[in-house]
Amino acid sequence: MRAVRHLMHSKWLLCRSNSPSVNTSVSSHVRLFSTSNRCMTIMPAWVIDKYGGNDALRFTRNASFPIIHYPNEVIVRVFAAALNPIDVGMRGGYGSSTLSMKRDPLNIKQTGSEFPLILGRDVSGVVMERGLDVKYFNEGDEVWAAIPPWKQGSLAEFVVLSANEVSHKPKSLSHTEAAAIPYVATTAWSALVNTGGLTKDNCAKKRILILGGSGGVGTFAIQMLKAWGAHVTVTCSQNAEGFVKRLGADHVVDYTAGPVEQPLSALEKFDLILDNVGGDTELWALGLLKPWSGAKYVTLVTPFLQNTDLLGIADGMLQTAATMATKAFKHLVKGVHYRWGFFAPSGPALDEIREIVDAGQIHAVVEETFSFSQVPQAFEKMEKGHARGKTVIQISKGEEDS
Ligand SMILES: NC(=O)c1ccc[n+]([C@@H]2O[C@H](COP(=O)([O-])OP(=O)(O)OC[C@H]3O[C@@H](n4cnc5c(N)ncnc54)[C@H](OP(=O)(O)O)[C@@H]3O)[C@@H](O)[C@H]2O)c1
Repeated sequence: MRAVRHLMHSKWLLCRSNSPSVNTSVSSHVRLFSTSNRCMTIMPAWVIDKYGGNDALRFTRNASFPIIHYPNEVIVRVFAAALNPIDVGMRGGYGSSTLSMKRDPLNIKQTGSEFPLILGRDVSGVVMERGLDVKYFNEGDEVWAAIPPWKQGSLAEFVVLSANEVSHKPKSLSHTEAAAIPYVATTAWSALVNTGGLTKDNCAKKRILILGGSGGVGTFAIQMLKAWGAHVTVTCSQNAEGFVKRLGADHVVDYTAGPVEQPLSALEKFDLILDNVGGDTELWALGLLKPWSGAKYVTLVTPFLQNTDLLGIADGMLQTAATMATKAFKHLVKGVHYRWGFFAPSGPALDEIREIVDAGQIHAVVEETFSFSQVPQAFEKMEKGHARGKTVIQISKGEEDS
């Protein structure tokens, strides 16, 4: 690793020292203006220029090199990235209204200014440059992060992030393994900790039900809740039963064997339900909670982005707020809490997750690793579904130098 850091430092310093500079003298004051070397203005990346299917993906060597705009930002050299269902959705335009507003709140830019858009929400790599206010990270630090969907993604050689979104990578994982975790982990953390109110100190013996436990979010949630001492019941298809049990699930119910609510309602009631499935599950799932005990149902499948895509920002947000309030009130009078969970990027959450990972209590679940040239194949694999782990893309051979 030292060799890589040394190489990167020397490369960076070399580029900086090669930068053309202009000496402008005004009386006795000397001011140096410098411009970046050409080699630092472009980078290889997979981009889309319009929303669509896999044919929208285009490889380019000329993607804009990320720039530090704020003093708390870092540029990360990407060693590995991973795909999530949201990448397939975003490729087709899912959430584009809300994400465009987030990128350009004053609506100054033209429609389509998000292109060329780089997908990829997970990154594991090395800090290449840091803003003046960044004290927690040094150039050369190995880091991991989940990238907010309104920012350029990790299917590129470099990505710029707020230092608040970045965390030191677990030492026990390679970059390829580490890239499988941040997006699903911060989503599960946001749903279970921020929205569900669970912590490592209040989880012991709590009964948790995970609907859709064999996917990315579910497999992480099982492992974290088991590390915190909870009793975890999971629904998944029959062929995933052994897999989720190996991850620590205490009880597994096969949703393909018939109406899943029947076997679930025969069990002792739950303190928290994490719903990764959506659809009609909320018609019956809230009845599985312990009433008048503070029990919560947290669903990750919300209509927020669809509403703003269909109705526009103002009407979509209004509709979303009305739906949310109606459902929360309807269930509150029955003694249970109904909540929506959302992905939230968080370096501090990843710091805590790193400790559980390095303690050997959470394992990266990698289904298949693709090379940078195989990004379209990786998307195809994601779309086929029923993967038993994450689809990871190795961007750089950097880790092999360590
Ligand atoms: N709100 C947010 O900010 C946010 C963020 C991230 C993810 N999400 C959403 O959260 C959900 C989970 O994400 P993920 O990354 O874990 O997705 P994923 O990897 O595709 O996993 C979903 C899993 O659900 C299982 N499943 C499908 N139908 C089911 C059913 N009827 N009953 C039980 N299990 C069922 C499948 O398991 P089998 O293969 O065993 O059938 C699949 O492995 C997705 O809908 C995603 O869009 C929301």
